Amino acid sequence: MILKSNTNSITPSEITSESIYFKRREVLKALGIAVPVSLMPQAGFANNQKLKYSPRVITCPDKETTYQDITHYNNFYEFGTDKSDPAKYSGSLKTNPWNIDIEGNVKKTKSIGIEDLIRQFPLEERIYRHRCVEAWSMVVPWVGLSLKKFIEWCEPTNNAKYIEFVSLADPSMMPGISSPILKWPYTEALRIDEAVHPLSILAVGLYGQVLPNQNGAPIRLVVPWKYGFKGIKSIVKIRFVENQPNTTWNLANPNEYGFYSNVNPEVDHPRWSQATERRIGDGLFAARRKTLMFNGYADQVAHLYNGMNLKQYF
Ligand code: MTE
Repeated sequence: MILKSNTNSITPSEITSESIYFKRREVLKALGIAVPVSLMPQAGFANNQKLKYSPRVITCPDKETTYQDITHYNNFYEFGTDKSDPAKYSGSLKTNPWNIDIEGNVKKTKSIGIEDLIRQFPLEERIYRHRCVEAWSMVVPWVGLSLKKFIEWCEPTNNAKYIEFVSLADPSMMPGISSPILKWPYTEALRIDEAVHPLSILAVGLYGQVLPNQNGAPIRLVVPWKYGFKGIKSIVKIRFVENQPNTTWNLANPNEYGFYSNVNPEVDHPRWSQATERRIGDGLFAARRKTLMFNGYADQVAHLYNGMNLKQYF
């Protein structure tokens, strides 16, 4: 199967293959060398623009999931509900030009094109655990920008207590939209203090390459201590609001999907346990892994929920 994606503009010699990428990183790691920006893998964007990013931030010591698995086992219901549908059908998504509109409680509404955004904000590689509510997980080397820095640029006013994200919902490019399985457009939201936490990023790349369509091109949210469904893909609008907004999965089934969606092995999904997870790529007979509180990021994020009953605010 040949995937159509927005990596079309990269010539093959510009792409760092996965094996070279691993080898280079292992050697540099063994030598304890910080990687200069100019030596890091680069990826083209539309119009052959390069993505450059600084050395990585590893917050998961486990081996990264392969590029093949990360890009062929997806949830992106705008392209179908089967895990293989996004890779098969998201070639129809056009990501250039792409604008993100900023609205609501901000000094001034604005719009920024994806290319300006990746030029304006420093990019970093972030290796994060990625835990789906369906009790599987991956380890993903994202390339992204700090959501906090982006929010500062948006200049929200004091009334902005929540940030709401909206995905593209274009039936001409997204065949899944014709099905009423979810309420379109897909939306997600965070409390502002969650959004400005240093772990929260807007991802624009994967494995040093531009984000493939099936993973949410050209820009998606990544909040590693929450279940994967908070990671809204293909964002076209961001709104700063005063009251807690509705979110797609909470509207679809409020008993199963709460607003917070923090990874929590002690709070089961009504239909299955969240105590363990299957790591994609581990093989059929591998032991399931124990799910960690806040997906292993408790030391960094637990304070955000001090005094809250996490069984009630799941
Ligand atoms: N964003 C949109 N717009 N539509 C979706 O269906 N699925 C969510 C989330 N973001 C989804 C979405 C779910 S359920 C998960 S688990 C993650 O994307 C999956 O991200 P991945 O395919 O990159 O692993």
